[in-house]
Amino acid sequence: VSRVIPVDTFDLVIFGGTGDLARRKILPGLFRRFCAGQMPEDARVIGAARAEMSADEYRSFVADAIREFGGGKSCDDGTLEAFQARLEYVTVDAMGDDGWPEMVKLMDGRDVVRAYYFSVAPSLFGDLASRLHKWELTNDQTRIVVEKPFGRDLVTAKALNASLAEHFDESQIYRIDHYLGKETVQNLMAVRFGNMLFEPLWNSQYVDHIQITVAETVGVGGRGDYYDRSGAMRDMVQNHLMQLLCLIAMEPPSKFDPDAVRDEKLKVIRALDPVAPHHVVRGQYDASGDGPGYREAVEDPRSRTESYVAMKVGISNWRWAGTPFYLRTGKRLVTRSSEISVVFKELNHSIFGEKQDHRNTLSIRLQPNEGITLNVTIKEPGPGGMRLVDVPLDMTFAEALGEDAEDPPDAYERLIMDVIRGNQTLFMRGDEVEAAWAWTDPIIAGWEARGDVPKPYESGSSGPGDAVQMLARDTRVWREVK
Ligand code: BG6
Repeated sequence: VSRVIPVDTFDLVIFGGTGDLARRKILPGLFRRFCAGQMPEDARVIGAARAEMSADEYRSFVADAIREFGGGKSCDDGTLEAFQARLEYVTVDAMGDDGWPEMVKLMDGRDVVRAYYFSVAPSLFGDLASRLHKWELTNDQTRIVVEKPFGRDLVTAKALNASLAEHFDESQIYRIDHYLGKETVQNLMAVRFGNMLFEPLWNSQYVDHIQITVAETVGVGGRGDYYDRSGAMRDMVQNHLMQLLCLIAMEPPSKFDPDAVRDEKLKVIRALDPVAPHHVVRGQYDASGDGPGYREAVEDPRSRTESYVAMKVGISNWRWAGTPFYLRTGKRLVTRSSEISVVFKELNHSIFGEKQDHRNTLSIRLQPNEGITLNVTIKEPGPGGMRLVDVPLDMTFAEALGEDAEDPPDAYERLIMDVIRGNQTLFMRGDEVEAAWAWTDPIIAGWEARGDVPKPYESGSSGPGDAVQMLARDTRVWREVK
């Protein structure tokens, strides 16, 4: 049964409409929503970029992108043609006035939701915001969408927020963190707040520690320029891992409402302890048989940028004081796997007299093979007496939910439609982004001041050995990345 939520008619303008993100994610995502029947009849998608191109040329450009990155969604040519009919294109100059009168003409007289997607370098956000204003391209249903990186530290993030705030209200600004659009990430909230079972135990009295892992097999690929100026801390931790941490650690919001949720997330970030240097491990991948090492990939033999971070994070609040959160993320690791594991404490007394090394673990797999595993302790079968063994209660969403879970909308599809619907729950508020930078800035500044050099790790491994030791010092182990 299709559960497509109807949305109002819209004009979605993609600045950077010929760019990489548009080609790989935004346009194929919109096409899939079109196939799902979620695009109202006279909704339009308008590419806007510097390249000289006719609307027809843009239509073929988009069709190529969909064929290449559409994820094999089999829409017949007729459907693709029908989608192409919704596309327009304008050549505009974000930093000058060229093309803007054409944009005005195109939008004229349409009283519909206007979403402007800034899929461009952050240095252009301010220019675009002021030109939209100057050319009176906004109406009372205008929304703007911005991508990460949202700044590279607190100062730059504040400046970006200020330049957007000159012309737009916070309620109109949608800052994308695509992790929040992932099906299983939203499931974190469903599991916590939709079940009686977990929430009463969700605190430092019962939880020994929590692990958040986002492991990737890809290297920096063709993004060396951007990545080498960012590193894993800015690229992944400040945003994606921080958001996961917030959803796991936050207090229950009073309702599933954008500001109620974001208020709670913000409180978590503000309660994070500063991170001591020996609670962070940075790594950088070496060359391997099937790919160049990090330094070759970014063409800087002395680069000190990290492609891996592991850290121990404390939250100083009533719920979590004393329960460490261990975070790790890296590129060129042994497998692509993201999961969050809540490791419960040992029993305080065992009636079976065994050595007490059994504990419950709840693992939420974000990707791939989305699902939840709860490790429970049971009796080992057979006549050997009361010997205990840990077994998984394993649920993959695909098996449990059948067809409905097989092809969930990609994060971008869902988030773009949330923009059209005017729902900000899964978007970062300005103060959240700033608080996250305020926490990461001193960590990065510490590395710079000490001239810290990341530890090399083998491509295809599970990261630097120092990360293992960091947990060993706490008599804990990382969950196996597999
Ligand atoms: C992006 C980062 O935000 O997220 C990339 O810039 C990273 O470096 C990507 O590879 C990971 O996203 P996903 O959806 O593939 O887990």
